[in-house]
Amino acid sequence: MAYYIHDVDACLSPVIGPDGLEPDVFGAWVGRTASALETLRSWHAEDRLPLLRLPERNDDVAALEPVAERLRENFRDIIVLGTGGSSLGGKSLSALADPGSPLPDGGQPDSLRLHFMDNIDPISFDRLFARTDPAATAIIVISKSGGTAETLTQFLYCLDVFRKALPAGTLSRHFLVITEPRDNPLRRLAEEHGFETLDHDPGIGGRYSVLSVVGLLPAMIAGLDGEAVRRGAASVLTPILGHAEPEETPAAVGAALAVALSKERAISQLVVMPYVDRLYDFAFWYRQLWAESLGKNGEGTTPVSALGTVDQHSQLQLYLAGPKDKAYTVIFGPSAGTGGRVPEDLAGNGDLSYLAGRRMGDLMDAEQRATADTLIANQRPTRKITLPEVDEESIGALMMHFMLETIIAAQLLNVDAFDQPAVEQGKVLAREYLGQGAG
Ligand code: PA5
Repeated sequence: MAYYIHDVDACLSPVIGPDGLEPDVFGAWVGRTASALETLRSWHAEDRLPLLRLPERNDDVAALEPVAERLRENFRDIIVLGTGGSSLGGKSLSALADPGSPLPDGGQPDSLRLHFMDNIDPISFDRLFARTDPAATAIIVISKSGGTAETLTQFLYCLDVFRKALPAGTLSRHFLVITEPRDNPLRRLAEEHGFETLDHDPGIGGRYSVLSVVGLLPAMIAGLDGEAVRRGAASVLTPILGHAEPEETPAAVGAALAVALSKERAISQLVVMPYVDRLYDFAFWYRQLWAESLGKNGEGTTPVSALGTVDQHSQLQLYLAGPKDKAYTVIFGPSAGTGGRVPEDLAGNGDLSYLAGRRMGDLMDAEQRATADTLIANQRPTRKITLPEVDEESIGALMMHFMLETIIAAQLLNVDAFDQPAVEQGKVLAREYLGQGAG
C-alpha cells in the first residue's frame, strides 16, 4: 500500500520548459540508480545495513512498550537529551502526537510533556528547570558514540540538578540512557549511577536511527504506534527488495531527480515545504539527513526547510522570482474540509465573502495547491508529495523514502552517505578552546 503519492512531472521540460529536465536525460539518470538499488538488495541480503532490517522486525518495538509505558505513567515531563541524529528523528515523530489524545492502551496522558533539548543554551535549561519538578520528570540521554561533548554536558548538568533535588536512592528511576553497547563515557557514567541503559545499534548511524529505539521510544512515550511507523517504512522498502524497476521506485526517482537537477540545471538548493505543522520538524530531520550525508568532496546540495503557509509570507517571493538555483518539494497534507468554519455572519459581507462558510483546512488546501501551481507557472522545478493521511504509517513511509533517496543519491555522487569526517575538525578545536579556559 502506498502511503504517499510522488509526482515529479513538474520538474521536467514538457511541464516547465527549458528549466526542467528533458525526459530522456532524466530517464538516463533514473536508469543509473539501478546499481544503487542492487547494492541495497545485497546489503539487505548480507545484513550489512541494519537499517534495512528494521521494517521487518517488531520484536524490539514490543520490548520498548513497557519502557515507554513506565515513563509515560510515572512522569509528567520527559526531557530528551541528545543532538543531531540522536534528537531530530524522535522529535519529528513525536510532533505527530497530540499529548491529550487517548493512548493505545486507552489512557489519557493529558499532562505529559516531551522536551527535546538539543542545544546547550544555558538559558533554555534554566527556563526548563524553572517549570519542571524533578520528582515528576524523567531524563532520556541519547548518544550513539557516548562521547558527544554537548550531550555529556547536558547530562552531567541535569544529573547534578536532580541529585540535589531528589531523595537519596531515587535518582536511577529518573534516568534512562541509550548508547552503543561498548565502552564509552556515557555508558560508564550510566553504569556508575545504576541507570537503565538501552543499546543503540552500532550499525545504525544517528541520522538513520529514527526507526530504531532512538526515534521510536520518544514517539511511543508520546502515544504513537511504533509498529505502524515500521509498517509505513516497510511499504517503501519491500518493493525495492522485490526488484521493482528504478522508474517504479519513488526513492530512486527522487534521488535521480535531485542529482540530475544539480548536474544538468545547476540547482544547488532543495526546498522542502510541508504545509501541516506536524511535519515541520520532519523538514528539519530531512535537512540534516541530506546535508550531512551528501556534503562531501565538493558534492551535495543545500537542503532548506520551509513551512507553508507561513513561508508564503516570508520566502515565496524569492522562490518565485529569485535566482533559478532551487528546486521545490511541496508536501501536501490532507486539509480540505477540516477545521473550524469561518462563520457566514461574520464574514458574509464585503471582500471576505470568499471565506464565508469555508473551513480553515479549505484555505490551507487552496493555498498549498496554489503555491505549487504558481511555482510551476514560474518554471520552477516542483516535486509534489501528497499524503492522504498524516499518521504513523505515512511518516514512517516518508522517512524511509528520504533515507533511501539519500543513500541512492550518495551512490550517484560517489560519496559515503554514512560518515561526516569534516565535522570532527570543529569538535577537536572546541575541546582545545575549552582546555584553554573560559574567557
Ligand atoms: O547523524 C549523525 O551521525 C550525527 O548527527 C550524530 O547523530 C550527532 O553528532 C550526535 O552523535 P551521538 O549520537 O554520537 O551523540
